[in-house]
Amino acid sequence: MKTQITELFGIEHPIIQGGMHHVGLAEMAAAVSNAGGLGIITGLTQPTPEDLANEIARCRKMTDKPIGVNLTFLPGFAAPDYPGYIQSIVEGGVKIVETAGRSPEKYMPALKEAGIKVIHKCTSVRHSLKAEKIGCDAVSVDGFECGGHPGEDDIPNMILLPRVAEEMKIPFVASGGIGCSQQLVAALAMGAEGINMGTRFIATQEAPVHENVKQAIVNASELDTRLIMRGLRNTERVLNNAAVEKIVEIENSKGDELGIEDIAQLVGGVYPKIMREGDLDAGAWSCGMVAGLIHDIPTCQELIDRIMNEAQATIRDRLSAFA
Ligand SMILES: Cc1cc2nc3c(=O)[nH]c(=O)nc-3n(C[C@H](O)[C@H](O)[C@H](O)COP(=O)(O)O)c2cc1C
Repeated sequence: MKTQITELFGIEHPIIQGGMHHVGLAEMAAAVSNAGGLGIITGLTQPTPEDLANEIARCRKMTDKPIGVNLTFLPGFAAPDYPGYIQSIVEGGVKIVETAGRSPEKYMPALKEAGIKVIHKCTSVRHSLKAEKIGCDAVSVDGFECGGHPGEDDIPNMILLPRVAEEMKIPFVASGGIGCSQQLVAALAMGAEGINMGTRFIATQEAPVHENVKQAIVNASELDTRLIMRGLRNTERVLNNAAVEKIVEIENSKGDELGIEDIAQLVGGVYPKIMREGDLDAGAWSCGMVAGLIHDIPTCQELIDRIMNEAQATIRDRLSAFA
């Protein structure tokens, strides 16, 4: 399938694996790219720019297909060495960067001078328009359903995608809540040029995370995620667990007085314990409502082939009957 996104990034299928903290390692990105999608290494999971350079080099040994790097600009943390990370990306020959969180405006000149295509993750029409204005090549539109940070507007993709389509000129992909072929077809119908998936890619054979994490996603239903940190305007959708119950309890008792320090132990620095060691209750970890649609742990190739083959069949056999 050819779309503006497959052409922009030089990939076979319009399917992107969004950056994921402690999941987007070289193995993950290479598996998705080898399957014809776009795999993305999560920049800030690497403690230093040198580590990112090594991770890019490791990934290059596993695939000769295009790969991307995610750079997340989130509030509340000491600013990482972004120029250093960008230097590693440029020197590593990576030509695609997925930015997220705050606006990448400050870093656009450095990225563009290096001939890098930038896709910015947005949760609203206004942020998408801003991304277009500052020279991003595409946006990834994250609806309220998404795992991770859905923003503060709470607009689901059934509304958000057609709204973005009304206003934007640059191509966009649908992100959040997506895990199966019917949703790719629906996203295309709503004006998107492809899809971005997070949670669905964690439950794959190649995802470099503990089996407990994959199984927890398979076992979860669409009712099992919760929103935390709303009071801090840093809302995150996470899988419910003992730590999340505790966070919600603290949030309810503190009310307007809530500060990040009240829950820091349950949200900060917990990913290695969860993703690597499989200690699922060690803290809060991002997970989307799409868990309710995830029933197996295929390889990335099987997953992407299934989505593409079924999507073609849906367009050909089901939709054409209505035309
Ligand atoms: C475990 C996990 C970690 C994530 N970490 C990041 C991150 O570090 N940076 C980022 O931009 N997005 C992050 N995301 C968001 C994903 O890139 C993607 O936008 C989101 O998962 C899409 O929603 P879905 O999970 O419903 O597919 C994360 C998502 C998950 C599930």
